[in-house]
Amino acid sequence: MSAVTAEDYDKAASMEELYALLAKQGIENGWNKPEPSLWPLPNRDFVPAHWSYREAKAALNAAGRFVNTELAERRNLILANPIPGNKYPTVKTLICAYQMVKAGETARSHRHSANALRLVLDTGENAFTIVDGKKVPMVSGDVLLTPNWSWHAHSNESTQHAYWMDFLDVPTVHLLGPMFFEHHPEGIEKADEIASDSPMRFPFEETKARLAAEKEFAAGCRIIELGNPPPAMKTISLKVIRVDAGASFELEPSTLSTIYSPMYGAGKVTMEDKTFTWSRGDSIAGPSSYPQRWEAEEESYLLQVSDEPLLSRLDWLRPVPPRS
Ligand SMILES: [Fe+2]
Repeated sequence: MSAVTAEDYDKAASMEELYALLAKQGIENGWNKPEPSLWPLPNRDFVPAHWSYREAKAALNAAGRFVNTELAERRNLILANPIPGNKYPTVKTLICAYQMVKAGETARSHRHSANALRLVLDTGENAFTIVDGKKVPMVSGDVLLTPNWSWHAHSNESTQHAYWMDFLDVPTVHLLGPMFFEHHPEGIEKADEIASDSPMRFPFEETKARLAAEKEFAAGCRIIELGNPPPAMKTISLKVIRVDAGASFELEPSTLSTIYSPMYGAGKVTMEDKTFTWSRGDSIAGPSSYPQRWEAEEESYLLQVSDEPLLSRLDWLRPVPPRS
């Protein structure tokens, strides 16, 4: 810190001299800033986007030819929101990636402070995520949680490649700072017991049955929350929306950042001036402050991943007025 004294400020004879003294101390003035610190409505710095599973799967198959087994846990495709300069977040607080573990491969155990979950897309029998020493089966349509600091590995003991989507709150951890990560000392954590009924697993058949028993929130549309009752993750909300063939629903713009993947079905979604046609396994970024209108061509199940618990807890979950 340079030596600027109270007397120097007393002697300042012009605004320019005052600016020079402030600059020497690394102090910014609040009355003449080029960018305001506060503004009336949330910035829309992320955009709606869509990625196709069909293409992602082909890209993973190509990566499978070049990325060796030693790096199996990192053979993934990160869906960075297509805004200038962005290499990582899918929406402001969340990241989504496609991953493939080849038949017979294992991905080593590790744990991190970031919360993670996966939606299983295509696997053969006997593909597992090992969570805290238990083998949790991965079946198409299942959602598996690995909350903050749980050990996890993947073991594909089937004869087919396994494909899934990962969702993590890493952008939130980057923002707040509490990143911790470590590899398991055994490489792959020892696990003999198969835990089909693990509380960390939401089998699709159960999700489907729960939805069938749920009341409609709009004509032909039903919604449930995974992790309610717990286990739930403190930063991420998981919901599944069933939309019957020909049905539709709308979400008003809000501060919520969302990512969707259709677990089954096909249809289209409009977010302001962008319309995407989606089918099973695709990924759709629904950033905050954009309206969403979802329409299903056939009976569809949409996984919605959002930062709702975080925003609710902080009293920052609010509607945002439409911009156009
Ligand atoms: Fe991980």
